[in-house]
Amino acid sequence: MMFGRKNQAQTSRAAEALRLVSVSKSYGSGDSAVTALDGVTLSLPAGTFTAVMGPSGSGKSTLLQCAAGLDRPDSGIVMVDGEEMTGGSEAELTRFRRQRIGFVFQQYNLLPTLTVAQNTTLPLRLAGRRVDRGRARQILAQVGLGDRLGHRPDQLSGGQRQRVAIARALVTEPSVVFADEPTGALDTRSARDVLRLLQEAVRVHGRTVVMVTHDPVAASYADSVLFLADGRLAGELRAPTVDAVAERLAHLGDDTLLEV
Ligand SMILES: Nc1ncnc2c1ncn2[C@@H]1O[C@H](COP(=O)(O)OP(=O)(O)OP(=O)(O)O)[C@@H](O)[C@H]1O
Ligand SMILES: [Mg+2]
Repeated sequence: MMFGRKNQAQTSRAAEALRLVSVSKSYGSGDSAVTALDGVTLSLPAGTFTAVMGPSGSGKSTLLQCAAGLDRPDSGIVMVDGEEMTGGSEAELTRFRRQRIGFVFQQYNLLPTLTVAQNTTLPLRLAGRRVDRGRARQILAQVGLGDRLGHRPDQLSGGQRQRVAIARALVTEPSVVFADEPTGALDTRSARDVLRLLQEAVRVHGRTVVMVTHDPVAASYADSVLFLADGRLAGELRAPTVDAVAERLAHLGDDTLLEV
């Protein structure tokens, strides 16, 4: 249990936003057990944009859930900002997550009865932080929705809903933002808006973004792509182009690529 304890790793806080060491996770037991993650080790520098790709069932969502503290690995360590996230009580984990982590889901997960402004500032209220009215306006203006504060989610397009979800993920000024197929339900143009906002969160605001996607175009917005196959890292591609990503995906599972 290392919450709050100053340790060596904290001196490198600015350099490394996320570290996973031998993270494994299985579902079920006995004959029906499925190994979703099989000893994943990785390190992401602060202020980087990483895409995670791989076949359906390769463990991408499980990786995000474990890294974001939404689920617990069976074994291994997750560190955010040089602080270990695995091992504490449920309440400590929740508090830590609310301070340091933002999450964007494919299906937005906005609360239908709350306004856009209320949805956006909900994480602040959950964390017991002061909500000043200007904050919702400011963060929603950043995502191009400064004129939609009083609307309900069902009065917005899919792309607009996802932009609210991004504002909600950014409002606490988290260290790491995880996004699981954030453009999966969007048309090309809305997807591009969302990808630009995630890119801006990294370039302008210094956040670290980790995004699962099936789309080589979306992945090309990232600084690097991590490939997963059967719950293991199966390669990395830096400065990805659409063609290079598609090429790698086509050959994922070839033995030569299984050595990272
Ligand atoms: N709650 C669960 N209970 C049982 N098995 C699960 C559960 N969640 C995931 N799995 C299994 O773990 C493996 C990894 O699933 P995961 O959702 O992480 O894959 P994914 O790469 O995100 O796939 P997709 O691209 O389809 O979203 C799969 O074999 C899946 O069936
Ligand atoms: Mg998934």
